[in-house]
Amino acid sequence: MKQVLCLVFVAVFMVACSSDSTDPAPQPSAPAPAVKPAEEAVQRATETAQQVVEEVVEKGQELKDEAGKYVEKTSETVAAKAQELEVGAEKLVQQGSDRLAALVPSAATFDQGSSIYQQNCRSCHDSGMMGAPKIGHARYRADIDVLVENSINGVGRMPARGGNRNLTDDQLRAVVEYMVEKSK
Ligand code: HEC
Repeated sequence: MKQVLCLVFVAVFMVACSSDSTDPAPQPSAPAPAVKPAEEAVQRATETAQQVVEEVVEKGQELKDEAGKYVEKTSETVAAKAQELEVGAEKLVQQGSDRLAALVPSAATFDQGSSIYQQNCRSCHDSGMMGAPKIGHARYRADIDVLVENSINGVGRMPARGGNRNLTDDQLRAVVEYMVEKSK
């Protein structure tokens, strides 16, 4: 609002000065009516100044409204952008936890397979006893379903379930997966 007031002062000042400078010309030739034109000039200047003030105030109001709209729009845009970012971040978190969730069971299976191997299979498969293929043997590159099936039912001199009837099919699959993984 200070700028607007300054503008008004400058405008009034300029109008006042310009009427002053035109006034002295007719004075010497007609000294009597000199007061009247001066009064009229002041009157005109006042009216012009008033007009200028009104225009400036009007313009100021317009600008203020415009600025208000702009601020509203900007904060809406910022809010929308923030919303977008939040949704994106949520998606990333979801993806991250999905991946983690996918990794946890396979890590658990590997762990389970490892401990079952140590307790039930190592005795033959670490040493190659009775011709048991050691870890890293080409036979572990065969179809995993066949390997699991042979572990469950036994094959050749390989006893069914490695000789431990308490091992479930799932546990045997876990340990075979472990052996296959370690053979890579
Ligand atoms: C008593 C010794 C012995 C134990 C204990 C044993 N295996 Fe074996 N395993 C063998 C022998 C011997 C073979 C090779 C069989 C053959 O001649 O085809 C074999 C083969 C395998 C094969 C390869 C099968 C194929 O199709 O090529 C897998 C897989 C296997 N064993 C898994 C296991 C698992 C899992 C355990 C533990 C739960 C286990 N074994 C415990 C002796 C053993």
